[in-house]
Amino acid sequence: MEMKKLSWITDHIPASPIRELVPFAEKAKLNGVKIYHLNIGEPDIETPDVMLDALRSWSYKSVPYANSQGERVLLQSLLKYYKKLGFGNIGIDNLQITMGGSEGILWSLIATCEPGDEVITFEPFYTNYISYIMRSRARLVPIRTRIEDNFHVPRKSIIERTITKKTKAILLCNPSNPTGTVFAQDEVDMLMQIAIKHGLYVISDEVYREFVYNGTKPYSVLNYLEKYPEGVILVDSLSKRYSLCGARLGVLLSQNKKLMQIFLRFAQARLSAGFIDQHVAAQLDRVDDSYFKGVIEEYDKRRTVLVNGLRKIPGVVCSQPEGAFYVIVKLPVKNASHFAKWLLTDFHEHKETVMVAPATGFYATKGLGKDEVRIAYVLNVGALERSVEILSKALKEYVLLSS
Ligand SMILES: Cc1ncc(COP(=O)(O)O)c(C=O)c1O
Repeated sequence: MEMKKLSWITDHIPASPIRELVPFAEKAKLNGVKIYHLNIGEPDIETPDVMLDALRSWSYKSVPYANSQGERVLLQSLLKYYKKLGFGNIGIDNLQITMGGSEGILWSLIATCEPGDEVITFEPFYTNYISYIMRSRARLVPIRTRIEDNFHVPRKSIIERTITKKTKAILLCNPSNPTGTVFAQDEVDMLMQIAIKHGLYVISDEVYREFVYNGTKPYSVLNYLEKYPEGVILVDSLSKRYSLCGARLGVLLSQNKKLMQIFLRFAQARLSAGFIDQHVAAQLDRVDDSYFKGVIEEYDKRRTVLVNGLRKIPGVVCSQPEGAFYVIVKLPVKNASHFAKWLLTDFHEHKETVMVAPATGFYATKGLGKDEVRIAYVLNVGALERSVEILSKALKEYVLLSS
């Protein structure tokens, strides 16, 4: 008998542009080439000592399932964290621990969208949004932002024009991956006005909240918890903030009671997030402010070195990231995906090369981002300087070869 077809999604789900070049990188490494990984946003900064100490002094005799909502110690530490940010109006019932912000975004979409519903997001966007939206059977409606505007949101009328009867939610990433843009209060206020007017959910992905430079302040949707309690869903994550990517811990925060009940049911159906991870992360209320100060200073240095270095390369246009640790870079090439692959398969400078993420995967509109890459500045200053040098030489050679 002929085998039944796999589901629709198996023909549509894209590969991650951040990881799709990995086989070429592996091969280059086997050939003795050192690769500077500018393609993935995994912080190289150390996890806070208080968390590492909790891991080292682990004394449980077994590793049980955790509570489905989340371990109480972690929930309580989080309450203190949000209170310190100025949001004391949050209780334990407003929090749900997820396995990373990734799970939180997926659950928010599944809980709010019917198949075919539309979710507005600003492109370029975090590439995995495509996968989450597709898995929720909703439809992504991209609104273009431009490098010339440092990827800030367009006029209200442009945004309102995209709203239809099927629009259910606005998915915002602030500070943004992949652009590094930090949306200011007037932008968030404008989006919230639109959401309130049309009864839309605002799913705000704020996993890079602390990573802002030059005194820039991201304006959290938590400011709207009281004004729009049913509509605000905050997606948070401990991955980047505390260099805990492998702990797989995130937070969903909402005042919408029904939504919180549904999130708990989703959580119960996958039993729990990691027990060890949560007890280690629960130390977050003991992390000294000096930890963030040091981390932000370090990223700011990297940002300056990278952006200044890139801007010196002929033909390269680089936006000014205000937060997170990414930048979108326009290259003097027709096909940045081909260039990114070529860097791994056909180029090295004294047995060293760089790996970048082609930007097309961060856009939903066909044809956009073809000459762009996303660079993550998660390497130390020395490694970034060397990466810029390699990139500059590679571009010169590639442009000559293609002419
Ligand atoms: C914008 C954004 N949101 C969400 C995530 C998911 O992070 P995690 O699942 O590790 O919390 C990431 C990871 O890179 C991200 O960049």
